[in-house]
Amino acid sequence: MTSVLFVCLGNICRSPLAEGIFRDIARKRDLLDRLQIDSAGTGAWHIGNPPDPRSIKIASQHGIDLSQQKARQLSEADFSRFEFIFAMDRDNLRHLSAHKPAESSATLSLFLEYAGLGQEDVPDPYYGGGDGFQRVYRMIDAASSRILDRLFTASDPS
Ligand code: 4NP
Repeated sequence: MTSVLFVCLGNICRSPLAEGIFRDIARKRDLLDRLQIDSAGTGAWHIGNPPDPRSIKIASQHGIDLSQQKARQLSEADFSRFEFIFAMDRDNLRHLSAHKPAESSATLSLFLEYAGLGQEDVPDPYYGGGDGFQRVYRMIDAASSRILDRLFTASDPS
């Protein structure tokens, strides 16, 4: 079993999209029974809330339902429960590195970098207008596909 956790600041915009998109691609590749997939936020503001309506909307336009997700805050237990923890931006990655317990063997990575798409952040779309969510959707979709390639084709971890 391969376990992956996506982490952003609020767990209402970017990481819920990553969780939903990654799960959708994994389902299409028949990999769901080999994966545990979740998301969390470093911040506590939105605990218990559904994803941002703009994330729900862009996902539903691609046939992905995020409406049942609920925001939660990253916990110390996540560092032992998850093998791969992906930070959506470098602030989140710094937070993860600073809070990783010494005994944790989790791999902490910048999401786009692990996907081979450069040492870039997925920009926080919360306060922006325009096509922010569209852009974030496309980035996460491309990266999720490449991360699944990397996790399951280089070596067979079943
Ligand atoms: P996310 O976006 O980290 O992609 O979920 C944000 C959501 C809420 C806030 C910041 C970022 N906030 O400050 O409330």
